Amino acid sequence: MSRHSRSRNLPPIVAFPPSSRKRTLPPNDQSPALGDQPRQLSSTELTTAEMDSIRRLMIVAFGSEDEFTDADWEHALGGRHFIVEWSGDIVAHAAVIERELQLGDRALRTGYVEAVATAPDLQGQGIGSQLMEAVNAFIRETYELGALGTGRLAFYGRLGWLRWLGPSFVRTADGLVRTEDDDGWILVLPTSTSPALDLSAPISCDWRPGDVW
Ligand SMILES: CC(C)(COP(=O)(O)OP(=O)(O)OC[C@H]1O[C@@H](n2cnc3c(N)ncnc32)[C@H](O)[C@@H]1OP(=O)(O)O)[C@@H](O)C(=O)NCCC(=O)NCCS
Repeated sequence: MSRHSRSRNLPPIVAFPPSSRKRTLPPNDQSPALGDQPRQLSSTELTTAEMDSIRRLMIVAFGSEDEFTDADWEHALGGRHFIVEWSGDIVAHAAVIERELQLGDRALRTGYVEAVATAPDLQGQGIGSQLMEAVNAFIRETYELGALGTGRLAFYGRLGWLRWLGPSFVRTADGLVRTEDDDGWILVLPTSTSPALDLSAPISCDWRPGDVW
């Protein structure tokens, strides 16, 4: 998931929601947003309208099309989506994509988290945490490891994610390439099938266009 994204040609995006006023969830977690588990579906099950809605949400939550690019959107497709809806809107989203990470020389089937955001006017009310609890549960029952790249260390740290302290690399056709700009911004989530983790060991990801981590 990119922390610093680059600009691409995207269709014009309207503000989400149309008003910039803050929406407040009803007390006692009785709102649909916090009362139900996030909906889970694969990319192929998303309607075109849902895809557009999620993409708009990402661009507004990340701040601009420069911060959430075409490549960032491509990175969010092909796996499992987690969606929170409220008052007919998709108000939060996360995706988990399968990638192969290597810790030292051990390859791990990894659930890589992408495109996490809550509508700006609903942030700070627990929706993102609820979403990530569902993502965590899915990763724990499906993968040998969870991973993501982020600048929001405290948010994920509170939810059990650990900061990788070792040097990061990407595996390319020409071999391992250092990704020092990503050092310290990669988090992992251990699962019951993870090996013992040495957080200071080298870590590498498979190559992809755009931000590799
Ligand atoms: C990161 C993000 C997804 C969090 O979503 P959110 O719905 O605001 O998440 P929560 O409300 O569960 O938690 C946000 C903060 O509010 C606090 N909070 C949660 N419920 C709260 C409540 N009822 N009252 C007050 N504060 C609350 C949490 O402690 C949390 O603090 P922390 O980030 O320091 O841990 C959201 O800020 C966002 O979309 N940011 C822009 C996109 C982005 O940066 N995505 C992640 C990049 S990897």
